Amino acid sequence: MAKKKILITWPLPEAVMARARESYDVIVHGDDPKITIDEMIETAKSVDAILITLNEKCRKEVIERIPENIKCISTFSIGFDHIDLEACKARGIKVGNAPHGVTVATAEIAMLLLLGSARRASEGERMIRARSWPGWQPLQLVGQRLDGKALGIYGFGKIGQALAQRARGFDMKIHYFDIYRAKPEVEAKYDATYHDSLDSLLAVSQFFSINAPSTPETRYFFNTSVIEKLPKGAIVVNTARGDLVNDADMIAALKSGRLAYAGLDVFAGEPNINEGYYDLENTFLFPHLGSAAVEARNQMGYEALDNIDAFFAGKEMPFKLA
Ligand code: DGY
Repeated sequence: MAKKKILITWPLPEAVMARARESYDVIVHGDDPKITIDEMIETAKSVDAILITLNEKCRKEVIERIPENIKCISTFSIGFDHIDLEACKARGIKVGNAPHGVTVATAEIAMLLLLGSARRASEGERMIRARSWPGWQPLQLVGQRLDGKALGIYGFGKIGQALAQRARGFDMKIHYFDIYRAKPEVEAKYDATYHDSLDSLLAVSQFFSINAPSTPETRYFFNTSVIEKLPKGAIVVNTARGDLVNDADMIAALKSGRLAYAGLDVFAGEPNINEGYYDLENTFLFPHLGSAAVEARNQMGYEALDNIDAFFAGKEMPFKLA
């Protein structure tokens, strides 16, 4: 029997591509230039399923243009804010994501941002690279330790919990808010204190980590009124989605010192980030590195392929979204 044809919108790790090619006739778009929505829709006419990334914004108007032959979309990401699931349902398109591979890698980046922000790592790095280090000084780039500090985790899913586990290793005190309270054994595992409101969490969070998905409820929640409920001089890290943050408010708070530091891996409108961030010393900025570890990227690819395999086998996708 002829192999099914799939479009993969970006080159993925070799192990993932090898598995994909074993089962399918694969059309893979290169990364330079990146695939456009028009090219994706055009190529979709000649394939049976599409494996996309978070770069392909599949809004309603895009989904409505997807050819009738496409009934399966799988995304190489845990996040699915780039896909209009309702529009997919209306077109009878099954959708799945890759929810597990990212967990440890993203928690590691959140931990790195916490540490790097507290200890002013990128300022030190920039000083050396600018050849402007005058030598050791008692008051040079003095940050703060993590131990004994309260870490407020906003969103206590898999990544939030994996961060809690790592932060416990640095003797931080774990606090969290989530719309779903974790089971008692989970709270006990991380010695985590549950807060029944965001305000209650903010009040104690010397460090605050954003680990919630981007939804209509969370989008731009991190604004001036939220910032003002944090202890003065709090440090904030975001490894979730950039559009959870109101950038103008965050930048103003970093400039005024209301926030001491921000460690950011994600930005609204990536890669065109708010200009205000570029010259702020008290920021530690990464280009969306959360899942950029070989173990994570391989697993993400396998999970995305698992959805497609299940679809063609007439089964429910293991990581079904719609
Ligand atoms: C995801 O999987 O949604 C991540 O943001 C990718 O790093």
